[in-house]
Formats: sequence, C-alpha cells, structure tokens
Amino acid sequence: MTKTSAGLAAALALATGALLAGASPAVAESAAERAVAARQAGFKQIGAAFKGVNDELRARKPDLAVVAAAAARLEGHATQLPTWFPRGSGPESGAETGARAAVWSDAAGFADAAANLRTQTQRLNVLAREGDLAALRKQAGQVAAACKTCHTAYREED
Ligand code: HEC
Repeated sequence: MTKTSAGLAAALALATGALLAGASPAVAESAAERAVAARQAGFKQIGAAFKGVNDELRARKPDLAVVAAAAARLEGHATQLPTWFPRGSGPESGAETGARAAVWSDAAGFADAAANLRTQTQRLNVLAREGDLAALRKQAGQVAAACKTCHTAYREED
C-alpha cells in the first residue's frame, strides 16, 4: 500500500466511525426516530386541521365549505393515527417522544381513544355538510375532548 492510499484508508475509517457514532444524525437516525418524527408531523397536521375548523367556527359568519374541508382533513388524519405507533417507537427506544409506554402496554385502551377521535371527527364532518352551526360548535367540543382524553392517558405532559 502506498503512503497516500494508506492515509486515505485511515481518513475513510475515521469518517465511517464518525457516522456510526451518530455525528451525522440525518444519516444515523434510527427507525424509532423516523417513526417519532413522522407521527409528530402527523399530529401537527391534526392540530392544523382542527385549528382550521375552530378558527372558522369562531368567525362571525363561518364559511361552511372551509369548515367541511378542514373537518374532512381531520377525519383523514384521525383514520391514519393508529398506524403512527409501530412497536419499538416508544420511550424505551431512546427517541425523543412524548408518547408514554402505556400506548403499547395498554394497546386496547389506546385503540379505543383513537377510535373515539375517529367517531367524533366523522360526526363533525357530517354536521359540516349539513350546516347546523350550533350543532357543529358543540361537536367541535366533543372532538377537543377526544384529543384531551387520549393526551391525559397516553402523552407526557409538556
Ligand atoms: C389516541 C390518542 C391521541 C389522540 C386521540 C390525539 N392525540 Fe395528540 N398526541 C398523542 C400522543 C401519544 C402524542 C405524542 C407523540 C410523540 O411525541 O411521539 C401526541 C402529540 C400531539 C401533538 C404534538 C406533536 C409534536 O409536534 O410533537 C399535537 C399538536 C397533538 N397531539 C394534537 C392533537 C389534537 C389537536 C388532537 C385532536 C384533534 C389529538 N392530538 C388527538 C395522542 C393522541
């Protein structure tokens, strides 16, 4: 081996070691970290869709088409929610997650909480198409309660 190629090999070994040690998180990110990032992005979309519903319902003359569109997005995200929690993406993984271990240890309870959100967002969606504002406002409260019920049991407090 020539001096130059030996030096190059050493430099490469160093670079590889740095990658494996996590010096470059974008490359070394674990499956758990990717799952957490994806579900947190999903929850941000849930938050944005629900804000869209509430902002419009608080307007003096809510545009029901805007409410209906946001409610439909919300229902879509609620349907996806149960798929955002693969096994191994909890706090034991070392990933920075707000999900408690109970999501998996009490999987039936968590599934109920997720199903409840789906039911409440479906009702919101139906009401948005029917256009009864008073009923819509009441139902938005039921959706908020479904978020809160799950957060209280399965999400770390901020
Ligand atoms: C079935 C349980 C469940 C329901 C229902 C639920 N959430 Fe969550 N939510 C969680 C969990 C668990 C986390 C923590 C995720 C993590 O950090 O890995 C979370 C995190 C979040 C976050 C923080 C995302 C981030 O950036 O870290 C927001 C915002 C949020 N939820 C909004 C909502 C809203 C709004 C609703 C209702 C429309 C809702 N959630 C319904 C379980 C739920």
